[in-house]
Amino acid sequence: MSAAESLRPLTMALSKGRIFEETLPLLEAAGIQVSENPEQSRKLIIATSNPGLRLIIVRASDVPTYVEYGAADLGIAGKDVLIEHAAQHPGGLYQPIDLNIARCRLAVAVRKGFDYEAAVRQGARLRVATKYTQAAREHFAAKGVYVDLIKLYGSMELAPLVGLADAIVDLVSTGNTLKANDLVAVEDIMPISSRLVVNRAALKTRHAQLQPLLDAFEQASHANVATA
Ligand code: ATP
Ligand code: PRP
Repeated sequence: MSAAESLRPLTMALSKGRIFEETLPLLEAAGIQVSENPEQSRKLIIATSNPGLRLIIVRASDVPTYVEYGAADLGIAGKDVLIEHAAQHPGGLYQPIDLNIARCRLAVAVRKGFDYEAAVRQGARLRVATKYTQAAREHFAAKGVYVDLIKLYGSMELAPLVGLADAIVDLVSTGNTLKANDLVAVEDIMPISSRLVVNRAALKTRHAQLQPLLDAFEQASHANVATA
């Protein structure tokens, strides 16, 4: 590693919103404060109280890309996002720690009154709308259910209401979004939480700077399990 490289701060990719909010206490546990809140500022590069660490603010689904290509040394992304990324880039990221933040579940949901079990039993070919095509494909393949997947980028809840799909695969936390749209969850696919991801090259070349941060995050994530 060159001298200039060793002086460069570590770059951590985060999305604003819940991941940023839930990462703040983890950073604080590592003795790190952030210089500004991305909800209020339009800045995309944010300094921290640790001159050896800066944050970049990217879309949640772009975090794995920044980290894999080394534009960020590390980042935090949901398991949902990581599964979809890994389908295109298997093994590209080191995922050492489940931080137990942004917890929810991936589930199949349908319109109230739609008999999902009967449709599956009868071998009907279901139309399923989702942003999570890889996770959905694996889930229905494992069940032996034939589906036509329709890729959407958001507002999946709308699809069964306007006849685009019979079912959706989406994230569920309180269930309020489903309820507000007369949908019901009929099957859980997997629990979801966010993980720390690390660039594979940085793991070797920037090990001395990364390790204290990984240790602090690991400790703080145990506290999250205890309070979950
Ligand atoms: P993008 O901006 O790339 O479309 P997004 O809108 O899904 O992503 P967020 O809503 O900030 O981004 O979600 C970030 C992560 O938080 C998700 O990838 C998921 O792991 C988790 N998450 C999403 N919704 C919930 C929820 N309702 N409760 C808890 N965690 C959630
Ligand atoms: C997520 C997800 C669901 C909702 C579920 O959306 O896509 O729509 O949370 O949460 P609930 O069960 O507590 O209602 P989010 O709030 O992140 O909005 P988004 O559409 O911007 O992703």
